[in-house]
Amino acid sequence: MKIDSVCVLGGTGFVGRHVVTRLNNAGKHVRVLTRRRERNRDLLVLPNVEIVEADIHDPATLRHHFAERDAVVNLVGILNEKGFRGEGFRYAHVELARKVLDACKERGVRRLLHMSALGADQGGGSSHYLRTKGEAENHVLTFARPEIAATTFRPSVIFGPEDSLFNRFATLLAIAPVFPVACPRSRFAPVYVGDVAERFAAALEDRESFGQRYNLCGPEVWTMMDLVHYTAELRGYRRLLLPLPDWAARLQATILQFAPGKPFSRDNYLSLQVDSVCPEGPTCPTHVDAIVPDYLAHQDRQARLQGFRREARRRRRATP
Ligand SMILES: NC(=O)c1ccc[n+]([C@@H]2O[C@H](COP(=O)([O-])OP(=O)(O)OC[C@H]3O[C@@H](n4cnc5c(N)ncnc54)[C@H](OP(=O)(O)O)[C@@H]3O)[C@@H](O)[C@H]2O)c1
Repeated sequence: MKIDSVCVLGGTGFVGRHVVTRLNNAGKHVRVLTRRRERNRDLLVLPNVEIVEADIHDPATLRHHFAERDAVVNLVGILNEKGFRGEGFRYAHVELARKVLDACKERGVRRLLHMSALGADQGGGSSHYLRTKGEAENHVLTFARPEIAATTFRPSVIFGPEDSLFNRFATLLAIAPVFPVACPRSRFAPVYVGDVAERFAAALEDRESFGQRYNLCGPEVWTMMDLVHYTAELRGYRRLLLPLPDWAARLQATILQFAPGKPFSRDNYLSLQVDSVCPEGPTCPTHVDAIVPDYLAHQDRQARLQGFRREARRRRRATP
């Protein structure tokens, strides 16, 4: 199957930018749909990429933008919803996946790549995040055939320079002398965003991937405690890391889900009860240690430089 033109949903996000760049470099013509074009003008430097402001939840809009596209890539996902009952997750994951599949069928799109998550399933005890991710993925794989060749990807946590994994820990560690670690024994196989983008690009025209679901895991398994400890070490922070017992993690989630920006929620807590590791072992090659020190150390230098500049400005102002 020859793919020349691709429409990407979620192409402005952390993973999306890498996927879009990789597709651009492969010479594909890429149309990225976004809610806010102005915020993503930097992507326009890529010669084969157009950024279009669109309401992706509107079926007519999807039909319009999918016309004469060879493939669609759906990367949209949320970790938190506005409410608490799962409706936001259902809307962003399941309903959108259905609309995307329907619009693909109506417009004769033959190829669909869909982003899910490791641990996604429809099990009763699971988080809304994992349940709706699972439902969306199963819908795509079940109902795409025979007109559309669909492939789904199920990554563990993803790292890379703009991630919200190591960067988030680094931000929190910078301000907290004592750091409570919720779910310290939860396990992950962090996968590099460049590997994820590579897998999407490689699958596009690969017949063997049609109808498949792929788990994406990096080469090592880390616990939550390992990840926080590693971040603190890299940044040179001496912090007291406090592993929280389960009841305290649940309490923390119940309280923090009412804080601005929902830094941690009951749903996040529930999704951390499922280990995010591939049963078949590693499926992607890049080690954390080959990438993360570069961007965390770089930020550290930047922060120190900013500190020097602030201090210099303060001294200048204080000098009569
Ligand atoms: N990052 C990870 O560690 C990880 C791990 C496993 C799975 N995943 C999955 O990988 C995908 C990409 O993750 P990411 O980290 O790149 O996420 P991200 O940085 O938050 O980007 C999400 C993208 O989805 C779009 N989007 C978000 N909410 C939307 C909504 N309600 N309606 C319409 N568009 C919406 C945004 O587009 P605009 O703002 O431009 O409209 C944005 O481009 C998601 O499906 C996520 O579940 C991520």
